[in-house]
Amino acid sequence: MEQKTPGHLSVQLTETRRFEPPREFAARAVVPAAGYEEILEKAQADPEAYWAEAARELDWLEPWTKVLQWKVPHAEWFVGGKLNASVNCVDRHLAVNAHKNAIVWEGEPGEVAHWSYADLHRQIEGLTAVLRQRGLKPGDRVAIYMPLVPESVVAMLACARGGFVHTVVFGGFSAESLKDRIQDAGARLVITADYGYRKGARLGLQAQVEAAVAACPGVEGVLKLARERAGQLEATFSKSPAPAAATWGGRPAWDWHAELGVINALPPAERARLGQPERLDSEHPLFILYTSGTTGKPKGILHTTGGYLTGALRTTRTVFDLRPQDLYWCTADIGWITGHTYLVYGPLAAGASIFMYEGTPTHPAPDRIWDMVERHQISILYTAPTLIRALMRVGTDAPRSKNLRSLRLLGTVGEPINPEAWMWYRHEIGGDRCPIVDTYWQTETGAIVISPLPGVTATKPGSATRPLPGYDVEVVDKQGEPVPLGAGGYLVIRKPWPSMARTIHGDPERYAQAYWSDFKAKGYYFTGDGARKDEDGYIWCLGRVDDVLNVSGHRLGTMEIESALVSHPKVAEAAVVGRPDDLRGQAIVAFVTLKADAARAASDPASLEALKKDLAAHVSREIGALARPDTDDIRFADSLPKTRSGKIMRRLLRELATHGKVSGDTTTLEDLSVLAALGSKDDE
Ligand code: WT7
Repeated sequence: MEQKTPGHLSVQLTETRRFEPPREFAARAVVPAAGYEEILEKAQADPEAYWAEAARELDWLEPWTKVLQWKVPHAEWFVGGKLNASVNCVDRHLAVNAHKNAIVWEGEPGEVAHWSYADLHRQIEGLTAVLRQRGLKPGDRVAIYMPLVPESVVAMLACARGGFVHTVVFGGFSAESLKDRIQDAGARLVITADYGYRKGARLGLQAQVEAAVAACPGVEGVLKLARERAGQLEATFSKSPAPAAATWGGRPAWDWHAELGVINALPPAERARLGQPERLDSEHPLFILYTSGTTGKPKGILHTTGGYLTGALRTTRTVFDLRPQDLYWCTADIGWITGHTYLVYGPLAAGASIFMYEGTPTHPAPDRIWDMVERHQISILYTAPTLIRALMRVGTDAPRSKNLRSLRLLGTVGEPINPEAWMWYRHEIGGDRCPIVDTYWQTETGAIVISPLPGVTATKPGSATRPLPGYDVEVVDKQGEPVPLGAGGYLVIRKPWPSMARTIHGDPERYAQAYWSDFKAKGYYFTGDGARKDEDGYIWCLGRVDDVLNVSGHRLGTMEIESALVSHPKVAEAAVVGRPDDLRGQAIVAFVTLKADAARAASDPASLEALKKDLAAHVSREIGALARPDTDDIRFADSLPKTRSGKIMRRLLRELATHGKVSGDTTTLEDLSVLAALGSKDDE
């Protein structure tokens, strides 16, 4: 852990503004201020009791016999309990809320769909039957690679209903990344669509799926949604003849609506039987979600059912202050953990009405997002700092041209928010009346860990404030001892919590190594983040202290991008680091050395420029556009600065990428001329 010094991370530590919860809001908050400190203390004294009480808000088919079985780092929550996630998210609301909107959806081209809980239920039941008919059994894995359409939620919940473990792959990932994830998960089926919409254009998915499944012998078939029928409930019942049999990448490709049509033609009792929920163990795997780590290979984070749903539901209700009449919009894609927990599982388990939007929030004009808030009367908005900063740049005309009075709560997630963006969000979007919840958590934590409660906690721009009840969070030094208030250290969680990851799919050793080895003697979970705790006990997340980047709220491993670069025939070696970026939080900077013949061939500026473009495109093909470095951030060098033992000096490269020069001691450099060459690039 010698390399991991949070010292290089900077954050606004002089922030002194403080905002009490608005009085009217606090007066009717789901979690009121009165009595909160006692709840917190009780939860601290007995977290298991706190979480057991939270778990009782779910519908169990069979009660658990033991709350927690814990042997570092292996947790089992609500042992012996049986439940089904789709029942908790849908069926249980039918008794009173069958006609309440479950999903309000808007496609990028402008079509709008309203699905009630009854509608959603019928779709899920039908799709579960389809998947069962195709031979899937509980525990089998299914990959989902879809645009943000209501059917993507159906796909997730139908998997949950049948006990099939979904792994959602963000639609922006390349064929190569999709293939890796399908293979690692061992998926038998891929659920996808022909395309989605992004910035007014059709973003094709078919070519990627075909290329990926062609290389995955374990995939038995593809279920494909025709995007133009997304959201159309009637399409499910139409009697139009099934489309001709198709093959994608050599596998049968079944049409979503044709398959559902077959199921819908069955006698109702038969249909219901085929679509019934599986009785699943609390620890039955619910999903695998891939996220980047410090090696080239993404980690398949595994979440299970009872504990995950408990964390999702409790935090959704308390942090977002959900009330029956809310229309709640989490702008995340289902390809990320935020989309799993706070677009799908948490709000639906709470019986909320969720809003979903398929495309780019600024398309066709910068006011698109605010126009949707006004037209649909959205009351809760949960989004990423990077989007807030992008919208802030566009100016105040867009939000001011719309009536945003329906909003009553704002949230952020994914990266530290700079106080300037926080203040803009509060003033321009929240009209100074909406509390802001800055929520800190991770793919691995499954649910929000640190956040204000909107009716309780005074907020400070840039801080996620205090840990929620039931979590034992601390900022510690290398020995695992709490640092003094005001000092920086490592952010750890000292006790297990229900929605924690259970393992890395297929690699339990890596799970132990990645999260539980840094503070092994203490048995603490290490988040990988640096943090500072201020005089009020508020936590300021300073960002990652490992080789992981956060670009526009997306987690990317530097090693992953390096492997992509090195797979280019002209590249000999590559080192990737982050530099601070006003809009994206961090930007990717790649230091590249070329193979000798390639370097000779591309010695003139025009060829080097062309090569930079080619390398950027190569990374995009290998991983996806989200990992593409700007060409200005690709720098060629004769060789990379290394320590005597041959380790690339990332700290030095980070400094170089950030300041264009390096200060301090460089005597451990293998070749000083290298550094000079790298440094001089910026002086030109
Ligand atoms: C990393 C987790 C969890 C949702 C989306 C990202 C950073 C997340 C905050 C926040 C400062 C934050 C951390 C964390 N992060 N939320 N409110 N303030 N930093 O999930 O891809 O698993 O990334 O995002 O560095 O470790 P993820």
